[in-house]
Amino acid sequence: MRQKIVAGNWKMNKTLQEGVELAKGVNDILSKNAPKCTVILGTPFIHLTEVVKTVDSKLIKVSAENCADKESGAYTGEVSAAMVKSTGAEYVILGHSERRGYYGETYEILKEKVKLALANGLKVIFCIGESLEEREANKQNAVVKAELEGSVFNLTADEFSKIVIAYEPIWAIGTGKTATSDQAEEIHAYIRSVIADKYGKQVAENTSILYGGSCKASNAKELFAKPDIDGGLIGGASLKPADFYGIIEAYN
Ligand code: 13P
Repeated sequence: MRQKIVAGNWKMNKTLQEGVELAKGVNDILSKNAPKCTVILGTPFIHLTEVVKTVDSKLIKVSAENCADKESGAYTGEVSAAMVKSTGAEYVILGHSERRGYYGETYEILKEKVKLALANGLKVIFCIGESLEEREANKQNAVVKAELEGSVFNLTADEFSKIVIAYEPIWAIGTGKTATSDQAEEIHAYIRSVIADKYGKQVAENTSILYGGSCKASNAKELFAKPDIDGGLIGGASLKPADFYGIIEAYN
């Protein structure tokens, strides 16, 4: 059975102190209400070490939101996969549409990042998803396929087993406009079929595919009930413990 996952992506929110408070708040709730899914907190780099220390690792895993496409050296301001790993974080989010769109991360750059993350023992939450324009032109399947082929289909099946896919339609991120559960299920099933064509049915069946984009307590249950939706990658609703728990609770 593949893993069910609810992962938060804090993006560029929270000071260190606020982030520790937030992690503590989520941890407190989960220590009284054991989650029935894997819970991950994706935090800015500077929070990682403290958040790892703050949470019970049996209840909560920690993820970075990015890592460098270079191993080490003279790359001022960058943070390597090895550095992320050394904080105790277990995951890294790569390929987010905000990184692709605002910071020019290409398929090739992301391929390097994924390779370095895996080589340093991190698991990868790899984001894919189409823009509104692409959806309106009915190109969403071609877009997600190209994103997979461009950055993760070079991996061996063994390496690919360390990848979690997050389908995040750009038009649903932070807009309050969620994909309907049927719309999401349709493309999740398609993504799984593309993985099956590349790596075989077994690998595809074992791959967790998360939905992201205005996911909240009020729509999580319906989304997560779909056979090919294995949880969520949550932005805005991961910034308050009660909101985030409302989504985790969809699995209880
Ligand atoms: P929102 O949940 O705020 O729409 O963000 C989704 C997202 O981008 C998670 O990575």
